[in-house]
Amino acid sequence: MANRISLNPTSYHGKGAIQEIITEIQAHGFTKAFVASDPDLVQFGVTAKVTDLLDSANIPYVLYSNIKPNPTIENVTSGVEAFKQSGADCIVAIGGGSSMDTSKAIGIIIANPEFEDVRSLEGVAPTKNPCVPILAVPTTAGTAAEVTINYVITDVEKERKFVCVDPHDMPIVAIVDPDMMASMPKGLTAATGMDALTHAIEGYTTKGAWEMTDMFHLEAIRLIAENLRAAVENDPKGREGMALGQYIAGMGFSNVGLGIDHSMAHTLSAHYDTPHGVACASLLPISMEFNRDHTGEKYREIARAMGVEGVDAMSQEEYRDAAIEAVKQLSHDVGINPKNDRIKEEDLDQLAIDALNDACYPGNPREATKEQVIEMFRQLM
Ligand SMILES: NC(=O)c1ccc[n+]([C@@H]2O[C@H](COP(=O)([O-])OP(=O)(O)OC[C@H]3O[C@@H](n4cnc5c(N)ncnc54)[C@H](O)[C@@H]3O)[C@@H](O)[C@H]2O)c1
Ligand SMILES: [Fe+2]
Repeated sequence: MANRISLNPTSYHGKGAIQEIITEIQAHGFTKAFVASDPDLVQFGVTAKVTDLLDSANIPYVLYSNIKPNPTIENVTSGVEAFKQSGADCIVAIGGGSSMDTSKAIGIIIANPEFEDVRSLEGVAPTKNPCVPILAVPTTAGTAAEVTINYVITDVEKERKFVCVDPHDMPIVAIVDPDMMASMPKGLTAATGMDALTHAIEGYTTKGAWEMTDMFHLEAIRLIAENLRAAVENDPKGREGMALGQYIAGMGFSNVGLGIDHSMAHTLSAHYDTPHGVACASLLPISMEFNRDHTGEKYREIARAMGVEGVDAMSQEEYRDAAIEAVKQLSHDVGINPKNDRIKEEDLDQLAIDALNDACYPGNPREATKEQVIEMFRQLM
């Protein structure tokens, strides 16, 4: 089977890139924007960094901000109604994965109304039309939703998060400006950055990985290992490196999938509303340990990209240990809590069932039994 790569037609990178949003809106001839952002970003003036530019260029817009972290079906359906009232012809998504994912679901449903129940979009939905054109402006350095073909929505009623995979949701423009991320507090920078590292490591070891995505993932691991500590200190070079590293990880994993870390992380968020990055980060050394004997030489390259010296002289056991240790050290240095105190013994069975049913699980290089997944969740307790 041929390997498919889907990416943004256009993306901008680097400090000050946000100015290009005006050029792009005008070049496409859009007449009114539906700005989708979350309430905190509106309150802290992050959204205004973009809407001020729209104001000064006299580009009309409406603001939609009923979006919560781990966005829900309700966030999507009320967004669809708001879009219908808006008269807009494009979506400007400003925020982390939650704002960008909600925008994708809204844009897909507007263009493909037969999926308006939202739940039917789970997995690979056979949509016929590209979504409403999205211009995506990430404000976290983590999910890379601006360049992925995925979005993740929470079904509150059924206590599950579901992943939707659809190239029709690809933003036509991504503007990845580290200045948009500069207001992130330390904990959020660390968690979203570790989400990006998890994408790179899971994408590198997933079943469908191949030469081109390996190239993206190894460079992403290198950039993240080199820059995350500094980004947490709000150092501009660190922010720049993370903006790029997380995006490059997205260029890879979006096209090949992830693994059991993400399937377990989605389950934790669905049951306990655990922030996505925190869930991914705490599970990363555990899932790497679980997969270690099913990854060939790959942990040697992960260790090298993480900055470990002397990997060529190491035995297989040594470089596998070294890769996991380097991830643990980075996680520790940026202040990630390796435990999750919300998990209850009586929930473990259902957590494991849900994780094994998540769309990310089949990409994992090693099959897991329910008991093994329970054991991994238990390591977080
Ligand atoms: N589409 C994909 O490919 C993909 C990949 C991974 C994760 N996700 C999903 O993305 C969501 C997580 O997104 P996220 O981790 O980017 O966080 P988020 O969008 O959920 O935001 C978390 C919090 O951070 C705040 N915030 C964001 N940027 C900020 C900034 N610059 N300054 C201050 N505060 C800021 C937000 O207001 C919010 O309160 C999850 O639902 C996850 O499942 C999607
Ligand atoms: Fe993620």
